[in-house]
Amino acid sequence: MNNKPVAVITGASRGIGKSVAISLASEGFDIAAIARSLDSEGMKILGKEVEKRGAEFFPIGLDISCTSCHKEVVSNILERYGRIDFLVNNAGVAPLQRNDLLEMTEESYDRVMNINLKGPVFFAQKIAKEMIWLGQKFSDYNPVIVFVTSVSATLSSTNRTEYCVSKAGLSMASTVFSDRLSKEGIKVFEVRPGIIRTDMTVKVKDKYDKMINEGLVPQKRWGLPEDIGKAVASIARGDWDFSTGMVFEISGGLNIHKL
Ligand SMILES: NC(=O)c1ccc[n+]([C@@H]2O[C@H](COP(=O)([O-])OP(=O)(O)OC[C@H]3O[C@@H](n4cnc5c(N)ncnc54)[C@H](OP(=O)(O)O)[C@@H]3O)[C@@H](O)[C@H]2O)c1
Repeated sequence: MNNKPVAVITGASRGIGKSVAISLASEGFDIAAIARSLDSEGMKILGKEVEKRGAEFFPIGLDISCTSCHKEVVSNILERYGRIDFLVNNAGVAPLQRNDLLEMTEESYDRVMNINLKGPVFFAQKIAKEMIWLGQKFSDYNPVIVFVTSVSATLSSTNRTEYCVSKAGLSMASTVFSDRLSKEGIKVFEVRPGIIRTDMTVKVKDKYDKMINEGLVPQKRWGLPEDIGKAVASIARGDWDFSTGMVFEISGGLNIHKL
């Protein structure tokens, strides 16, 4: 068994996932980094950043929506390290086009739901089973699963219905996983980002610049991937050991309901 704990991060090549992977490498984890493509510039840069922090980097190509591919990926990680301590279900997509609810297509709905909800749920199920088995074998083992959802789990956007529905579903998945897995010694957390400056929000940068300036976000700034990386690092350090099923909303106060 690997002498360092091992973190698996989906959607690690860019944005939030990349920052989370770097933070976990700094916290002493070896990193199994998942993205659709192994060869992207993002994965190469991440590999260097991880190794700079003295951690091992294991890049894996996987489309998270391919549930029949999960088994082989999990086996490969276990073959290499003999353990998985920390899973961050981060991979996710926005709809290819923002269409009004009344124009939403079944194709777009299925794409978003398969990547944002079905894929992460079954990937987490597979890894949870391995974590239970590892927990029976090893005494010094503190497994954690994190689901990266979105403020869209509770905020309505009528031109991104499928995204909001997928994140609301993933939020409930996080609750049910935490409920079922607490007796297995596995802690589960939901990390719910607000408006974060990444490739995902490039297309709507001007719109959000304006809305943020006008006070939509109480802290009056964009979130950065590092804001999410820091929160996940805090979970990984064990700062929240007497908690599970908790939601970390990292949105500069977007969660505040105002009159
Ligand atoms: N940015 C925001 O404002 C914001 C706010 C709330 C929540 N979130 C959530 O945070 C997570 C990360 O978002 P981000 O802004 O960092 O996005 P991003 O910059 O677009 O990065 C998305 C990541 O997910 C990976 N990915 C996409 N589809 C995948 C698939 N089918 N299988 C495996 N990996 C896949 C991408 O890999 P490739 O490089 O291989 O494509 C990439 O690493 C998402 O779940 C998103 O919904 C983002």
